[in-house]
Amino acid sequence: MLISVEDARLAARRTLPRWLFDYVDGGAYSEASLKNNFASLSAVRFIPAILCGVSAPDTAVKILETHQTFPLVLAPVGMGGLLSVEGEVAVVRAAAAAGIQTCLSHFSIQSIEDIARAVDPALLMFQLYIFRDRAITRDTLQRVWNAGVRTLVVTVDTPVTPMRERDARNGFRSISKLSFRHFTQMMIRPGWTWNMAHKGGRLMANLEPYGMGKTFFAQSATISRELDPTINWLDLKWIREVWKGRLVIKGVLHPEDTRRSAELGAEGIVLSNHGGRQLDGAVSGFEMLSENVQAANGRLDILVDGGFRYGSDIAKAMALGASGVMIGRPWAFGLAAEGQKGVADVIDYFHQGLRSTMTLLGARDIAALREGGKDFLRDVS
Ligand code: FNR
Repeated sequence: MLISVEDARLAARRTLPRWLFDYVDGGAYSEASLKNNFASLSAVRFIPAILCGVSAPDTAVKILETHQTFPLVLAPVGMGGLLSVEGEVAVVRAAAAAGIQTCLSHFSIQSIEDIARAVDPALLMFQLYIFRDRAITRDTLQRVWNAGVRTLVVTVDTPVTPMRERDARNGFRSISKLSFRHFTQMMIRPGWTWNMAHKGGRLMANLEPYGMGKTFFAQSATISRELDPTINWLDLKWIREVWKGRLVIKGVLHPEDTRRSAELGAEGIVLSNHGGRQLDGAVSGFEMLSENVQAANGRLDILVDGGFRYGSDIAKAMALGASGVMIGRPWAFGLAAEGQKGVADVIDYFHQGLRSTMTLLGARDIAALREGGKDFLRDVS
């Protein structure tokens, strides 16, 4: 039983090889954005309301037209399935059982078809990277649609991958460049080697049809060459035309980009600095929330991520007008620590924390949390 996200993190640190833990835990360069994600959340405090008689708050919400038990969504984590023998299927099962959505990474270990068979695909979103070869992207969209997934999340904050110093120190550059040492460290855990090397060579199965998912030694230099660093608004317009489901743009921070996303006809955005892994020194999604809620003017569902570690953090975002919150590392740590059960524990920890926070604020449901808005909060930064 994992008591908290930090417990899950410590358990993951004990169990994972150093390079794999650091890959998940670390950020770009000085990790200033990573640290600021936490700092910006703790700089906003609550003013409680007493004697409200709210004993069992209702946390139910609708995010992107999908009912959830509470406003949390699991964020895409590339190669997340590597963290457990059970792969991504364990993650989506834990989320579905808790009644929340998961956004799968394009770079999942298991294929979208296998994952979508494990749960109701209405609870899945697919995160897409745009490839230079648009035929590949078009084909991926078709596969995602055929698997029953109706929400597409296009990540736009990764035209380059900046240095992640911990990875560089550990000699970890990409999954294709694992050394014998990295590989043997995975053998400590039964099943991992199997997961990586033998599952029909299906590492990153979403890329397999394009000759990029075959073996971990062969493919990932090809992948980074194939990702298109020149994508722009016209490409998003093209995606909007070919994708008939809901469209979400992930990696937005500037209110002007939120306006453009709404004008493009997207249904949602994710305010995110990619968990502090991209532009070092970037503001946090949470810091930019109020301005972007204004800019969206009710036209978009607004998700926010980066540094959310407590149920009370979710309450802060909801009070500032978010539609929901995404978490990346917390579920990844839970998965590494205890598989599906670990992910379930982490999700439950957030839900419990949100419930007790709402009781202490006297907010009987999410609408009340939103209406109370800034009255609940004090910015002490
Ligand atoms: C990510 N993130 C990410 N985002 C995305 O759109 N596609 C991806 O493949 C990945 N891969 C990825 C790997 C790892 C190891 C991490 C930690 C993160 C970013 C992720 O979706 C999310 O924005 C952040 O993780 C949110 O911050 P927290 O919750 O991890 O603090």
